[in-house]
Amino acid sequence: MEGTRTRIRAAVLSRPRDPVRVEELDLEPPGPGEVLVRLAASGVCHSDLHQADGDWDDPGPMVLGHEGAGHVEAVGPDVSVPAVGDLVALNWFYPCGGCHGCRAGRPWECTGTTALADRLPGGRTPLRRPDGTEVLPMLALGTFAERAVVPARAAVPVPPEVPAEVAALIGCAVTTGVMAVLRAAAVPAGSSVVVIGLGGVGLSAVMGAALAGAATIVAVDRVEAKLAPARALGATAAVKAGDTAATKAAIREAAGGRPDVALECIGLPATVELAIDLVGTGGTAVLVGIPPLHDRASFDVGKLIDRSARIIGANYGWAVPDQDFPRLSRLYLDGRLPVDRLIEGRIGLEDVNQALDALRRGEGLRRVIVF
Ligand SMILES: NC(=O)c1ccc[n+]([C@@H]2O[C@H](COP(=O)([O-])OP(=O)(O)OC[C@H]3O[C@@H](n4cnc5c(N)ncnc54)[C@H](O)[C@@H]3O)[C@@H](O)[C@H]2O)c1
Ligand SMILES: [Zn+2]
Ligand SMILES: [Zn+2]
Repeated sequence: MEGTRTRIRAAVLSRPRDPVRVEELDLEPPGPGEVLVRLAASGVCHSDLHQADGDWDDPGPMVLGHEGAGHVEAVGPDVSVPAVGDLVALNWFYPCGGCHGCRAGRPWECTGTTALADRLPGGRTPLRRPDGTEVLPMLALGTFAERAVVPARAAVPVPPEVPAEVAALIGCAVTTGVMAVLRAAAVPAGSSVVVIGLGGVGLSAVMGAALAGAATIVAVDRVEAKLAPARALGATAAVKAGDTAATKAAIREAAGGRPDVALECIGLPATVELAIDLVGTGGTAVLVGIPPLHDRASFDVGKLIDRSARIIGANYGWAVPDQDFPRLSRLYLDGRLPVDRLIEGRIGLEDVNQALDALRRGEGLRRVIVF
C-alpha cells in the first residue's frame, strides 16, 4: 500500500447546498506524520449538515464526515503511534503539539492545527478527482470515504473490542457532549442540569450528566420523539420546547428553579439566550451547538453579574482525545455509557443525503455509515 495511490469511493460536496455525490477519488499514500485508515464506521453529525448547507464557509469540493473510526492500514515515515492494525477513533481537531494550548495540556485551544482549514499538516490534501482537481478532507479527516489519510495525531487507538460504530461516535458526539459536562462545566454530583437540543451531542450531554451524578437532568427538544430516549439515558424530566417564554417556565418548573448548568446543544441564538437566561447564581451556561458563521446572541449583563454566572464556549467539550477516547471507550465496555442507544440505524455511503435530510428535520437519532 505504501507509496502507491489508492482509488476510493467517497461522498463529496462540490458546492454548498448541492446534494452530496458518491465519487471515485485518488488517495495519496501517507506522508511523514500521517496514517492511512480504512474506515469502518462514520456517524452523520449536524456539523456535516452545517458544512453541506454552507453555514460556515465554502472552501471547495470536500469529502464530508468527521465522526469516524477504522483500522490503520499503513503509516507514513516517523510514525510510532498508532500502529498498523490498530482500531482508531478519529479526532477532528488534531493538536499541533507545539502551540501554547497544546503545551498547557488544553488541546481544544490548539491554534496550530490545520483541521479547521480542512487540510493536513503543512496544508496539503491527499485527495484528487481523476481529472486532478483537489478535494479537501473535512476537518483533516473526510470520513465519508472508504479510506482516509489523516494526521497520526488525529488517529487515537481505542480498545479493539469496542464496536466500530461506537468508536466513531466517540470521535465526535459522545466526546463533545460528555466532556462538555465533565470537563468544560465540571458538573459536581447533586447539581441540576438542563440540556437543550437532544441530537447525538445533547443526548451525550445527558449521559454525561448522569455519569456526573447530577440530581436533576432536564432534557429539552422541540421534537417529541427525542424525549423518551433522553429519559432512558438518565434525564429526570423532559420538556417539549414551544415558544421561548412557555419553554422557560416549563424548564424552571421541571428543574425546581434555576439550574446550575445549562448546555445549549443546537446552535441557535434564541436557545443560546435561553441557556444564559436560565442559569442561577453561580451557574454556568455551556455553549456547545455551533450557529451559522457570524450569528450573534445577547444577554442581560446586569443579571449575569448579579448571579456571578459564567458563559463557556466548549470546543470539543474541552476534551483531551488521547486520554478521553480510551476512557470513554472503557466506560462503554463497563456498561456505564450506553453509546449504542444513540444509534438510529446503519446506512451505506449512498444514503448520506437522506441522513442529512433527516438531521435537517430533527428526525431520529444518530445514523452511522458502515463500510
Ligand atoms: N462544540 C463542538 O465542538 C461541537 C461538536 C459537534 C457538534 N457541534 C454542534 O452541536 C450541534 C448539535 O449537533 P447534533 O449532531 O447533536 O445535531 P442534531 O441535529 O442531531 O440535534 C439537534 C437537536 O436540536 C433540536 N432542535 C432544533 N431546533 C430546536 C429548537 N428551536 N428548540 C429545541 N430543540 C431544537 C432538534 O430537534 C434536534 O434533536 C450542531 O450545531 C453541531 O454543529 C458542536
Ligand atoms: Zn460532529
Ligand atoms: Zn496546538
